[in-house]
Amino acid sequence: MSEQNWDRIWKGAGLVTGKGEGLGLVERGLIAVRGGKIAWIGPEEEAPPHLCAATPQVTTLNGGWVFPGLIDCHTHLVFAGNRAREFERRLEGASYEEIARAGGGILSTVRDTRAASEGELFDASLPRARDLLREGVTTLEIKSGYGLDLENEIKMLRVARAIGRELGLTIKTTCLAAHALPPEYAARSTDYIDLVCHEILPRIAQEGLADAVDGFCEGIAFSPEEITRVFEAAQKLAMPVKLHADQLSDLNGAALAASYGGLSADHLEYTNPEGVEAMSRAGTVAVLLPGAFYTLKETRLPPIETFRKAGVAMALASDCNPGSSPISSLRLILNMGCTLFGLTPTEALRAVTVNAAKALAEDERKGRLAIGMDADFCHYNIGAPADLCYWMSGESPDKVVIGGREITVL
Ligand code: NIG
Ligand code: FE
Repeated sequence: MSEQNWDRIWKGAGLVTGKGEGLGLVERGLIAVRGGKIAWIGPEEEAPPHLCAATPQVTTLNGGWVFPGLIDCHTHLVFAGNRAREFERRLEGASYEEIARAGGGILSTVRDTRAASEGELFDASLPRARDLLREGVTTLEIKSGYGLDLENEIKMLRVARAIGRELGLTIKTTCLAAHALPPEYAARSTDYIDLVCHEILPRIAQEGLADAVDGFCEGIAFSPEEITRVFEAAQKLAMPVKLHADQLSDLNGAALAASYGGLSADHLEYTNPEGVEAMSRAGTVAVLLPGAFYTLKETRLPPIETFRKAGVAMALASDCNPGSSPISSLRLILNMGCTLFGLTPTEALRAVTVNAAKALAEDERKGRLAIGMDADFCHYNIGAPADLCYWMSGESPDKVVIGGREITVL
Protein backbone atom coordinates (compact mmCIF):
# COMPACT_ATOMS: atom_id res chain seq x y z
CA MET A 1 0.00 0.00 0.00
CA SER A 2 1.46 3.38 -0.90
CA GLU A 3 -0.04 6.76 -0.24
CA GLN A 4 0.02 9.50 -2.85
CA ASN A 5 -2.03 12.60 -2.36
CA TRP A 6 -4.17 14.69 -0.09
CA ASP A 7 -6.26 17.53 -1.48
CA ARG A 8 -7.41 16.61 -4.88
CA ILE A 9 -10.19 16.36 -7.47
CA TRP A 10 -11.52 13.34 -9.33
CA LYS A 11 -13.78 13.88 -12.37
CA GLY A 12 -14.85 12.31 -15.64
CA ALA A 13 -16.87 9.37 -14.28
CA GLY A 14 -20.43 8.71 -13.16
CA LEU A 15 -21.16 8.93 -9.44
CA VAL A 16 -23.27 6.61 -7.32
CA THR A 17 -23.90 9.02 -4.45
CA GLY A 18 -26.65 7.12 -2.60
CA LYS A 19 -28.65 10.34 -2.24
CA GLY A 20 -32.39 9.84 -1.63
CA GLU A 21 -34.05 6.45 -1.89
CA GLY A 22 -32.21 5.13 -4.95
CA LEU A 23 -28.61 5.27 -6.13
CA GLY A 24 -28.49 9.07 -6.53
CA LEU A 25 -26.73 8.82 -9.88
CA VAL A 26 -24.76 11.72 -11.37
CA GLU A 27 -23.88 10.98 -14.99
CA ARG A 28 -20.62 12.91 -15.21
CA GLY A 29 -19.55 14.03 -11.80
CA LEU A 30 -16.77 15.69 -9.85
CA ILE A 31 -15.56 15.05 -6.31
CA ALA A 32 -13.26 17.48 -4.49
CA VAL A 33 -11.56 16.33 -1.31
CA ARG A 34 -10.12 18.40 1.53
CA GLY A 35 -8.65 17.02 4.73
CA GLY A 36 -9.99 13.53 4.13
CA LYS A 37 -13.59 14.68 3.64
CA ILE A 38 -15.66 15.38 0.56
CA ALA A 39 -15.57 19.15 0.10
CA TRP A 40 -17.69 19.38 -3.04
CA ILE A 41 -19.59 16.86 -5.14
CA GLY A 42 -21.96 17.17 -8.08
CA PRO A 43 -22.22 17.35 -11.87
CA GLU A 44 -18.92 18.43 -13.38
CA GLU A 45 -20.43 21.40 -15.21
CA GLU A 46 -21.81 22.81 -11.95
CA ALA A 47 -18.49 22.77 -10.09
CA PRO A 48 -17.43 26.25 -8.92
CA PRO A 49 -14.68 27.45 -11.32
CA HIS A 50 -12.26 28.35 -8.50
CA LEU A 51 -12.32 24.75 -7.26
CA CYS A 52 -10.19 23.28 -10.05
CA ALA A 53 -7.88 26.29 -10.11
CA ALA A 54 -7.26 26.04 -6.37
CA THR A 55 -6.69 22.28 -6.26
CA PRO A 56 -3.18 20.99 -6.86
CA GLN A 57 -4.08 17.71 -8.44
CA VAL A 58 -6.93 16.84 -10.78
CA THR A 59 -7.51 13.24 -11.89
CA THR A 60 -9.63 12.83 -14.99
CA LEU A 61 -11.22 9.40 -15.18
CA ASN A 62 -12.20 7.92 -18.50
CA GLY A 63 -15.84 7.08 -17.80
CA GLY A 64 -16.89 4.25 -15.50
CA TRP A 65 -18.53 4.72 -12.10
CA VAL A 66 -17.41 5.93 -8.68
CA PHE A 67 -19.09 4.27 -5.67
CA PRO A 68 -18.87 4.99 -1.97
CA GLY A 69 -16.26 2.63 -0.49
CA LEU A 70 -18.09 -0.66 -0.04
CA ILE A 71 -18.92 -1.75 3.52
CA ASP A 72 -18.93 -5.36 4.72
CA CYS A 73 -20.89 -5.08 7.97
CA HIS A 74 -20.70 -8.72 9.20
CA THR A 75 -17.54 -10.84 9.06
CA HIS A 76 -15.73 -13.42 11.16
CA LEU A 77 -12.58 -13.13 9.09
CA VAL A 78 -10.12 -13.39 12.00
CA PHE A 79 -9.63 -17.10 12.59
CA ALA A 80 -7.01 -19.82 12.30
CA GLY A 81 -7.27 -23.29 10.81
CA ASN A 82 -9.19 -24.82 7.98
CA ARG A 83 -12.54 -26.59 7.72
CA ALA A 84 -12.32 -28.14 4.27
CA ARG A 85 -12.92 -31.58 5.84
CA GLU A 86 -16.20 -30.29 7.29
CA PHE A 87 -17.16 -29.11 3.82
CA GLU A 88 -16.56 -32.65 2.57
CA ARG A 89 -18.63 -34.11 5.41
CA ARG A 90 -21.52 -31.84 4.55
CA LEU A 91 -21.29 -32.96 0.93
CA GLU A 92 -21.47 -36.52 2.23
CA GLY A 93 -24.75 -35.65 3.96
CA ALA A 94 -23.91 -34.40 7.47
CA SER A 95 -25.73 -31.19 8.47
CA TYR A 96 -24.12 -28.04 9.94
CA GLU A 97 -26.00 -28.71 13.21
CA GLU A 98 -24.87 -32.35 13.40
CA ILE A 99 -21.26 -31.32 12.91
CA ALA A 100 -21.61 -28.60 15.56
CA ARG A 101 -23.25 -30.96 18.09
CA ALA A 102 -20.41 -33.47 17.57
CA GLY A 103 -17.85 -30.83 18.66
CA GLY A 104 -16.83 -29.79 15.14
CA GLY A 105 -17.94 -26.63 13.39
CA ILE A 106 -17.33 -23.45 15.37
CA LEU A 107 -15.50 -25.37 18.13
CA SER A 108 -12.92 -26.75 15.73
CA THR A 109 -12.05 -23.19 14.75
CA VAL A 110 -11.94 -22.27 18.45
CA ARG A 111 -9.26 -24.93 19.01
CA ASP A 112 -7.14 -23.65 16.11
CA THR A 113 -7.64 -19.98 16.99
CA ARG A 114 -6.67 -20.53 20.62
CA ALA A 115 -3.54 -22.43 19.53
CA ALA A 116 -2.37 -19.60 17.22
CA SER A 117 -0.14 -16.80 18.47
CA GLU A 118 -1.29 -13.22 17.85
CA GLY A 119 1.19 -12.98 14.97
CA GLU A 120 0.06 -16.25 13.41
CA LEU A 121 -3.56 -15.21 13.67
CA PHE A 122 -2.77 -11.88 12.01
CA ASP A 123 -0.88 -13.59 9.16
CA ALA A 124 -3.71 -16.09 8.61
CA SER A 125 -6.42 -13.42 8.60
CA LEU A 126 -4.85 -10.51 6.72
CA PRO A 127 -5.28 -12.03 3.22
CA ARG A 128 -9.05 -12.27 3.72
CA ALA A 129 -9.29 -8.56 4.53
CA ARG A 130 -7.04 -7.82 1.58
CA ASP A 131 -9.38 -9.79 -0.72
CA LEU A 132 -12.21 -7.51 0.36
CA LEU A 133 -10.13 -4.35 -0.01
CA ARG A 134 -9.14 -5.38 -3.54
CA GLU A 135 -12.81 -5.38 -4.46
CA GLY A 136 -13.39 -1.89 -3.08
CA VAL A 137 -14.36 -2.59 0.54
CA THR A 138 -13.02 0.28 2.67
CA THR A 139 -14.93 -0.36 5.92
CA LEU A 140 -15.56 -3.69 7.50
CA GLU A 141 -16.75 -5.24 10.69
CA ILE A 142 -14.85 -8.09 12.33
CA LYS A 143 -16.24 -10.21 15.16
CA SER A 144 -14.45 -12.17 17.83
CA GLY A 145 -16.14 -15.42 18.86
CA TYR A 146 -13.51 -18.09 18.20
CA GLY A 147 -11.63 -17.35 21.42
CA LEU A 148 -14.42 -17.88 23.96
CA ASP A 149 -12.22 -16.95 26.90
CA LEU A 150 -10.87 -13.60 28.00
CA GLU A 151 -7.36 -13.99 26.66
CA ASN A 152 -8.34 -15.31 23.25
CA GLU A 153 -11.28 -12.95 22.68
CA ILE A 154 -8.87 -10.08 23.39
CA LYS A 155 -6.31 -11.61 21.01
CA MET A 156 -8.85 -11.78 18.19
CA LEU A 157 -10.01 -8.19 18.68
CA ARG A 158 -6.42 -6.92 18.77
CA VAL A 159 -5.71 -8.73 15.52
CA ALA A 160 -8.83 -7.19 13.97
CA ARG A 161 -7.66 -3.68 14.92
CA ALA A 162 -4.13 -4.45 13.65
CA ILE A 163 -5.53 -5.45 10.26
CA GLY A 164 -7.17 -2.04 9.99
CA ARG A 165 -3.90 -0.28 10.73
CA GLU A 166 -1.97 -2.46 8.28
CA LEU A 167 -4.34 -1.95 5.35
CA GLY A 168 -5.60 1.55 6.17
CA LEU A 169 -9.18 0.27 6.41
CA THR A 170 -11.83 1.33 8.88
CA ILE A 171 -12.49 -1.69 11.07
CA LYS A 172 -15.43 -1.90 13.45
CA THR A 173 -14.93 -4.64 16.01
CA THR A 174 -17.65 -6.67 17.69
CA CYS A 175 -17.36 -8.92 20.73
CA LEU A 176 -19.11 -12.20 19.96
CA ALA A 177 -18.07 -14.10 23.07
CA ALA A 178 -21.64 -15.52 23.14
CA HIS A 179 -21.03 -17.43 19.90
CA ALA A 180 -20.75 -21.00 21.21
CA LEU A 181 -20.26 -22.79 24.51
CA PRO A 182 -16.54 -23.53 24.93
CA PRO A 183 -15.68 -27.16 25.75
CA GLU A 184 -14.47 -26.36 29.29
CA TYR A 185 -17.99 -25.08 30.06
CA ALA A 186 -19.87 -28.06 28.53
CA ALA A 187 -23.33 -28.32 30.15
CA ARG A 188 -22.57 -25.18 32.19
CA SER A 189 -23.90 -22.48 29.92
CA THR A 190 -25.10 -20.33 32.83
CA ASP A 191 -21.55 -20.22 34.17
CA TYR A 192 -20.19 -19.31 30.75
CA ILE A 193 -22.71 -16.49 30.36
CA ASP A 194 -21.60 -15.28 33.83
CA LEU A 195 -18.02 -15.19 32.53
CA VAL A 196 -19.11 -13.24 29.43
CA CYS A 197 -21.15 -10.72 31.43
CA HIS A 198 -18.87 -10.26 34.44
CA GLU A 199 -15.39 -10.65 32.99
CA ILE A 200 -15.09 -10.69 29.22
CA LEU A 201 -17.38 -7.79 28.30
CA PRO A 202 -16.28 -5.41 31.10
CA ARG A 203 -12.60 -5.98 30.30
CA ILE A 204 -13.11 -5.55 26.56
CA ALA A 205 -15.09 -2.37 27.18
CA GLN A 206 -12.40 -1.08 29.53
CA GLU A 207 -9.72 -1.65 26.91
CA GLY A 208 -11.87 -0.10 24.18
CA LEU A 209 -11.47 -3.19 22.03
CA ALA A 210 -15.03 -3.56 20.75
CA ASP A 211 -17.54 -1.19 19.18
CA ALA A 212 -20.51 -3.51 19.73
CA VAL A 213 -21.68 -6.78 21.29
CA ASP A 214 -23.17 -9.70 19.35
CA GLY A 215 -24.55 -13.13 20.22
CA PHE A 216 -25.73 -16.30 18.49
CA CYS A 217 -29.31 -17.02 19.50
CA GLU A 218 -30.06 -20.54 18.28
CA GLY A 219 -30.78 -24.09 19.46
CA ILE A 220 -27.10 -24.99 18.93
CA ALA A 221 -25.89 -21.83 20.67
CA PHE A 222 -27.61 -19.62 23.29
CA SER A 223 -31.24 -19.22 24.33
CA PRO A 224 -33.12 -15.90 24.21
CA GLU A 225 -32.86 -15.76 28.04
CA GLU A 226 -29.07 -16.14 27.92
CA ILE A 227 -28.77 -13.55 25.17
CA THR A 228 -30.94 -11.20 27.24
CA ARG A 229 -28.36 -11.41 30.03
CA VAL A 230 -25.58 -10.58 27.57
CA PHE A 231 -27.55 -7.61 26.22
CA GLU A 232 -28.22 -6.34 29.75
CA ALA A 233 -24.50 -6.46 30.46
CA ALA A 234 -23.75 -4.66 27.18
CA GLN A 235 -26.32 -1.99 27.99
CA LYS A 236 -24.70 -1.34 31.37
CA LEU A 237 -21.40 -0.82 29.56
CA ALA A 238 -23.12 1.50 27.03
CA MET A 239 -22.22 -0.82 24.17
CA PRO A 240 -24.64 -1.21 21.24
CA VAL A 241 -25.88 -4.71 20.41
CA LYS A 242 -26.64 -6.83 17.37
CA LEU A 243 -27.66 -10.47 17.02
CA HIS A 244 -27.31 -13.62 14.91
CA ALA A 245 -31.05 -14.18 14.89
CA ASP A 246 -33.52 -16.66 13.45
CA GLN A 247 -30.97 -18.32 11.17
CA LEU A 248 -31.97 -21.97 11.61
CA SER A 249 -35.17 -21.61 13.64
CA ASP A 250 -37.59 -18.96 14.89
CA LEU A 251 -36.64 -18.00 18.46
CA ASN A 252 -38.00 -14.44 18.17
CA GLY A 253 -34.41 -13.28 17.88
CA ALA A 254 -35.17 -10.30 15.65
CA ALA A 255 -37.66 -8.91 18.17
CA LEU A 256 -35.16 -9.50 20.97
CA ALA A 257 -32.46 -7.52 19.16
CA ALA A 258 -34.94 -4.75 18.38
CA SER A 259 -36.08 -4.56 22.02
CA TYR A 260 -32.52 -3.55 22.95
CA GLY A 261 -32.37 -0.99 20.15
CA GLY A 262 -30.10 -3.36 18.20
CA LEU A 263 -28.04 -1.85 15.41
CA SER A 264 -28.85 -4.92 13.35
CA ALA A 265 -30.34 -8.38 13.41
CA ASP A 266 -28.52 -10.73 11.08
CA HIS A 267 -29.42 -13.86 9.02
CA LEU A 268 -33.23 -13.74 9.67
CA GLU A 269 -34.38 -16.65 7.51
CA TYR A 270 -37.02 -17.61 10.13
CA THR A 271 -37.98 -14.12 11.32
CA ASN A 272 -41.72 -13.75 11.90
CA PRO A 273 -43.89 -10.71 11.01
CA GLU A 274 -43.85 -9.42 14.61
CA GLY A 275 -40.04 -9.48 14.50
CA VAL A 276 -40.07 -7.44 11.30
CA GLU A 277 -42.47 -4.92 12.87
CA ALA A 278 -40.27 -4.63 15.97
CA MET A 279 -37.20 -4.01 13.80
CA SER A 280 -39.06 -1.36 11.84
CA ARG A 281 -40.04 0.48 15.03
CA ALA A 282 -36.52 0.28 16.48
CA GLY A 283 -34.71 1.18 13.25
CA THR A 284 -32.80 -2.11 13.44
CA VAL A 285 -31.11 -2.98 10.13
CA ALA A 286 -31.79 -6.41 8.57
CA VAL A 287 -28.36 -7.80 7.66
CA LEU A 288 -28.88 -10.53 5.07
CA LEU A 289 -26.19 -13.16 4.61
CA PRO A 290 -26.77 -15.07 1.38
CA GLY A 291 -23.31 -16.70 1.57
CA ALA A 292 -24.41 -18.76 4.59
CA PHE A 293 -27.80 -19.46 3.00
CA TYR A 294 -26.01 -20.77 -0.10
CA THR A 295 -23.34 -22.76 1.73
CA LEU A 296 -25.78 -24.48 4.08
CA LYS A 297 -28.16 -25.09 1.15
CA GLU A 298 -30.99 -23.41 3.04
CA THR A 299 -34.36 -23.30 1.38
CA ARG A 300 -36.18 -20.88 3.67
CA LEU A 301 -35.76 -17.30 2.45
CA PRO A 302 -35.65 -14.29 4.77
CA PRO A 303 -38.94 -12.35 4.59
CA ILE A 304 -37.64 -9.79 2.09
CA GLU A 305 -41.02 -8.50 0.95
CA THR A 306 -42.15 -8.02 4.55
CA PHE A 307 -38.96 -6.03 5.27
CA ARG A 308 -39.65 -3.91 2.19
CA LYS A 309 -43.24 -3.20 3.16
CA ALA A 310 -42.24 -2.36 6.74
CA GLY A 311 -39.48 -0.01 5.53
CA VAL A 312 -36.73 -1.98 7.30
CA ALA A 313 -33.32 -1.07 5.86
CA MET A 314 -31.65 -4.16 4.37
CA ALA A 315 -27.89 -4.67 4.29
CA LEU A 316 -25.89 -7.48 2.69
CA ALA A 317 -22.67 -8.84 4.13
CA SER A 318 -20.21 -11.64 3.47
CA ASP A 319 -20.40 -13.35 6.91
CA CYS A 320 -16.87 -14.42 5.91
CA ASN A 321 -16.15 -17.41 8.17
CA PRO A 322 -14.58 -20.86 7.84
CA GLY A 323 -17.78 -22.85 8.29
CA SER A 324 -21.04 -21.46 7.00
CA SER A 325 -19.76 -18.77 4.63
CA PRO A 326 -16.24 -19.38 3.29
CA ILE A 327 -16.37 -16.29 1.10
CA SER A 328 -14.13 -13.23 1.05
CA SER A 329 -15.91 -11.53 -1.85
CA LEU A 330 -18.58 -8.88 -1.35
CA ARG A 331 -19.00 -8.81 -5.14
CA LEU A 332 -20.20 -12.39 -5.07
CA ILE A 333 -22.54 -11.53 -2.20
CA LEU A 334 -24.04 -8.70 -4.27
CA ASN A 335 -24.86 -11.24 -6.96
CA MET A 336 -26.26 -13.74 -4.44
CA GLY A 337 -28.37 -11.02 -2.83
CA CYS A 338 -30.05 -10.44 -6.18
CA THR A 339 -30.16 -14.00 -7.50
CA LEU A 340 -30.97 -15.91 -4.30
CA PHE A 341 -32.85 -13.30 -2.25
CA GLY A 342 -34.50 -11.30 -5.03
CA LEU A 343 -33.07 -7.89 -4.19
CA THR A 344 -32.96 -5.42 -7.05
CA PRO A 345 -29.46 -4.22 -8.00
CA THR A 346 -30.37 -0.83 -6.52
CA GLU A 347 -31.36 -2.48 -3.22
CA ALA A 348 -28.23 -4.64 -3.26
CA LEU A 349 -25.92 -1.67 -3.88
CA ARG A 350 -27.57 0.32 -1.09
CA ALA A 351 -27.24 -2.80 1.05
CA VAL A 352 -23.41 -2.65 0.90
CA THR A 353 -23.15 1.13 1.21
CA VAL A 354 -25.71 3.32 2.95
CA ASN A 355 -27.56 0.53 4.81
CA ALA A 356 -24.38 -1.28 5.80
CA ALA A 357 -23.10 2.02 7.23
CA LYS A 358 -26.28 2.27 9.29
CA ALA A 359 -25.77 -1.28 10.60
CA LEU A 360 -22.38 -0.13 11.92
CA ALA A 361 -23.63 3.25 13.24
CA GLU A 362 -21.31 4.90 10.70
CA ASP A 363 -24.01 6.47 8.51
CA GLU A 364 -23.07 10.01 9.51
CA ARG A 365 -19.60 9.50 7.99
CA LYS A 366 -19.72 6.66 5.48
CA GLY A 367 -21.79 4.82 2.88
CA ARG A 368 -22.76 7.86 0.77
CA LEU A 369 -20.96 10.43 -1.31
CA ALA A 370 -21.97 13.85 -0.01
CA ILE A 371 -20.30 17.00 1.27
CA GLY A 372 -18.81 16.41 4.72
CA MET A 373 -18.71 12.61 4.42
CA ASP A 374 -15.43 10.70 4.63
CA ALA A 375 -13.70 10.63 1.25
CA ASP A 376 -13.86 6.83 0.92
CA PHE A 377 -14.68 5.77 -2.62
CA CYS A 378 -13.68 3.49 -5.45
CA HIS A 379 -13.77 3.71 -9.22
CA TYR A 380 -14.65 0.82 -11.51
CA ASN A 381 -14.33 0.75 -15.27
CA ILE A 382 -17.84 -0.61 -15.70
CA GLY A 383 -20.64 0.39 -18.06
CA ALA A 384 -23.48 0.54 -15.52
CA PRO A 385 -23.71 0.50 -11.70
CA ALA A 386 -25.65 -2.80 -11.81
CA ASP A 387 -22.56 -4.48 -13.32
CA LEU A 388 -21.25 -4.88 -9.75
CA CYS A 389 -24.22 -7.17 -9.03
CA TYR A 390 -24.62 -8.80 -12.41
CA TRP A 391 -21.07 -9.92 -13.13
CA MET A 392 -19.78 -12.47 -10.61
CA SER A 393 -16.36 -11.29 -9.42
CA GLY A 394 -14.84 -9.52 -12.45
CA GLU A 395 -13.59 -5.97 -12.62
CA SER A 396 -11.66 -4.80 -9.54
CA PRO A 397 -11.69 -1.09 -8.85
CA ASP A 398 -8.80 0.66 -10.57
CA LYS A 399 -8.78 3.28 -7.83
CA VAL A 400 -9.50 2.95 -4.13
CA VAL A 401 -9.51 6.15 -2.09
CA ILE A 402 -9.67 6.06 1.70
CA GLY A 403 -9.89 9.30 3.67
CA GLY A 404 -8.90 11.19 0.52
CA ARG A 405 -5.75 9.13 -0.06
CA GLU A 406 -5.50 6.99 -3.13
CA ILE A 407 -4.09 3.65 -2.13
CA THR A 408 -2.45 0.91 -4.11
CA VAL A 409 -3.53 -2.54 -3.02
CA LEU A 410 -0.70 -5.02 -3.30
O1 NIG B 1 -22.59 -16.31 11.13
N1 NIG B 1 -24.10 -18.32 12.90
C1 NIG B 1 -23.10 -18.43 13.59
N2 NIG B 1 -21.88 -18.07 13.30
C2 NIG B 1 -21.32 -18.05 12.01
C3 NIG B 1 -20.77 -19.37 11.65
C4 NIG B 1 -19.45 -19.58 12.20
C5 NIG B 1 -18.80 -20.89 11.89
O2 NIG B 1 -19.42 -21.86 11.41
O3 NIG B 1 -17.59 -20.91 12.15
C6 NIG B 1 -22.32 -17.50 11.03
O4 NIG B 1 -22.86 -18.18 10.16
FE1 FE C 1 -22.04 -14.55 11.37
